[in-house]
Amino acid sequence: MKNLLFLVFFASGLVAQDKKDVEKLAPYYPTPEVIVEKMLEFGELKKGERMFDLGSGDGRIVLMAAEKYKAVSTGVEFDKDLWLQSTERIKRLKLDKLANIIHGDIMVQDYSSANLITVYLLPISNDKVRPLLEKHLKKGTRIVAHDFEIAGWTPEKTKHIDDDGEGRSHTLYLYRR
Ligand SMILES: C[S@@+](CC[C@H](N)C(=O)[O-])C[C@H]1O[C@@H](n2cnc3c(N)ncnc32)[C@H](O)[C@@H]1O
Repeated sequence: MKNLLFLVFFASGLVAQDKKDVEKLAPYYPTPEVIVEKMLEFGELKKGERMFDLGSGDGRIVLMAAEKYKAVSTGVEFDKDLWLQSTERIKRLKLDKLANIIHGDIMVQDYSSANLITVYLLPISNDKVRPLLEKHLKKGTRIVAHDFEIAGWTPEKTKHIDDDGEGRSHTLYLYRR
């Protein structure tokens, strides 16, 4: 099932990027809501903690982190439509005190305040993001990667979900800096 993300990536390769100087690290391919919940649970997110979703799509991970866990949640998304859509949803749900989406590039943000980072990017993109996280993250920060490992790091725990209710399997990797 992991290959689906690759397929979407290559199929969307010719789609114009919103910000020309930003490297597209993965296509938009949302995590099913049931898996979002498992990612946040697996990442041990707690009330008041600071979390970031790198490439936040429609904002579903950020929204659940704020709504259900009362975490201070930030998404980073370079696609203008997705950024707008997620920002409007945050306002509509009156979650703007806890949640926000940065319209920008994953590679130029500061993650030093994070307690939890979530990523659903391609393996080659995880390779690019890894040095940034190694530079920024304080000791003890958790990272949950969906479906693709962060090469060179050893996961503390791995969780396999056979069926998300729609016949897709998923793997989650939990890392701790
Ligand atoms: C596989 S989707 C994951 C979306 C969301 N995190 C989820 O799990 O539902 C990857 C997202 O990363 C965004 N993205 C890719 N490269 C980016 C970059 N350099 N900066 C910001 N966002 C990026 C894409 O537009 C897409 O929405």
